[in-house]
Amino acid sequence: MLRLPGTYRPQADTRLLASAFVEQGLHRVDRVLDVGTGTGAVALAAASAGSCRVTAVDVSRQAVWTARLNSAWRRRGVSVLRGDLLEPVRGQTFDVVLANPPYVPSPEENAPRRGRARAWDAGTDGRLVLDRLCAQVPIHLNPGGTLLVVHSVLCGVGTTLGLLESVGLRAQVVARSLEPFGPVLTARAAFLEKRGLLRPGCREEELVVVRGDFPS
Ligand SMILES: C[S@@+](CC[C@H](N)C(=O)[O-])C[C@H]1O[C@@H](n2cnc3c(N)ncnc32)[C@H](O)[C@@H]1O
Repeated sequence: MLRLPGTYRPQADTRLLASAFVEQGLHRVDRVLDVGTGTGAVALAAASAGSCRVTAVDVSRQAVWTARLNSAWRRRGVSVLRGDLLEPVRGQTFDVVLANPPYVPSPEENAPRRGRARAWDAGTDGRLVLDRLCAQVPIHLNPGGTLLVVHSVLCGVGTTLGLLESVGLRAQVVARSLEPFGPVLTARAAFLEKRGLLRPGCREEELVVVRGDFPS
């Protein structure tokens, strides 16, 4: 995978989402959207698994060019658009929406407007992007369509499930993985403990994939 400077390096959350997509039997669909595509790893996994038309979105210029290069290099024909969240696909609907959004709680109230941390920092509760995604996703799903979103339990699984149910999706956790803290969370452990988001001394986080199904 090619990666321009500043683009998120695919890691455990990337792999968990990509494998859940296939394990959930969602790959043989027509239209897939990958929100916050980074290198395009998840979008390319979808295209390789047999999804016909794959669109990817990212707010970062470097990520968009990285994903375009990777798609061209692998001859996958992913359409990569730049913009905020679902704005670039306004008026379009998909069978499956995939997302590995920023979800790390940060001492900063607002999301960074630039820089590498834009890939993970998401406000004091880690939900700045996730909450907007949950609220906006139904109008981009075809009847019977599905959202698969990966995030850490540090930003609240119950909140995601509740929000998706409140907009009419049937929501459940379909995959979990326990991961050791990387450098970002290690540096932030004291802040997370102080906010009551982390048990004192714990240096692992559980990642979850939440599935939301839109009625047919
Ligand atoms: C955790 S990374 C995931 C990258 C990739 N999907 C993966 O799994 O490896 C989150 C990505 O979301 C992008 N992003 C952050 N805020 C966004 C927004 N408001 N709209 C679209 N993309 C956003 C970042 O630039 C970054 O590439």
